[in-house]
Amino acid sequence: MVEGHVTISNLEKVYESGDERTKAIDDLSLEVPSGQFLSVVGPSGCGKSTLLYLIAGFLEESTGTIAVDDQPIDGPGTDRGVVFQDYALFPWRTVMGNVTYGLEQDGVPKEQRRATAQEFIDMMDLDGFEDKYPKELSGGMKQRVALARTLAYDPKILLMDEPFGALDQPLRELLQDHLLEIWGDLGKTVIFITHDVEEAVYLSERVMVMTRHPGTKKTTVDIDVDRTQPREDIILSDEYTDVKNQVWQSLREETQPEAQL
Ligand SMILES: Nc1ncnc2c1ncn2[C@@H]1O[C@H](COP(=O)(O)OP(=O)(O)OP(=O)(O)O)[C@@H](O)[C@H]1O
Ligand SMILES: [Mg+2]
Repeated sequence: MVEGHVTISNLEKVYESGDERTKAIDDLSLEVPSGQFLSVVGPSGCGKSTLLYLIAGFLEESTGTIAVDDQPIDGPGTDRGVVFQDYALFPWRTVMGNVTYGLEQDGVPKEQRRATAQEFIDMMDLDGFEDKYPKELSGGMKQRVALARTLAYDPKILLMDEPFGALDQPLRELLQDHLLEIWGDLGKTVIFITHDVEEAVYLSERVMVMTRHPGTKKTTVDIDVDRTQPREDIILSDEYTDVKNQVWQSLREETQPEAQL
């Protein structure tokens, strides 16, 4: 069965506090087919995080609908897993305790949840660190724990909000390749927010560029790069360079509208 298809129709989000109304998302429609890796780029404040939290079910839309496999979403659910930039680990739980958390919520028996958690701890090269607390880990390790925690409960859809933004370049590249491997193996739908055009084009099959605030879909660009090649061949390929320039240009029109005059 094909799963993890996201349909967003005429989505609008207005934040209201007191007399203030801020329209953050304006009439956005988007289809993300099951198993697609989609990146989202757009100027700061255009509503990327808002969009992700709406899909996650943390926020409620003002108008429009979001459906997963044709079912309108109703709050958060374990069909969608969120990974944040700042890891959001539970400081009072060990690595194992963090990774088993979602399975506990799902009522999985203890033995089984430890076995499942161990699988993802190993996948993220964190074996030997099961009993450490988040404060004892580096940034890259914390982000791998956060990924393992989300993958362990097997969501159909991964929602990632600038997950590698706080990491240095080598670590970011390592985790990007890790994520691509996992995506290839597990075939999940991924919606990945980044402000880094190169990261978006390197990772994804399609990039959505958003307009400046209040954000809506400006365009989507398909990327047809052979990802079985080594990184250095990908980034030197004509396809990669062309798409990167196209996305960069489109984004620049939003961040520097005066440059179009
Ligand atoms: N809780 C809130 N209440 C009121 N306005 C908000 C709230 N959260 C976000 N906004 C506003 O909504 C708009 C979109 O914010 P959002 O955080 O989604 O942008 P973003 O694209 O993720 O930005 P960045 O790239 O800087 O992370 C901004 O104008 C912001 O000020
Ligand atoms: Mg944001």
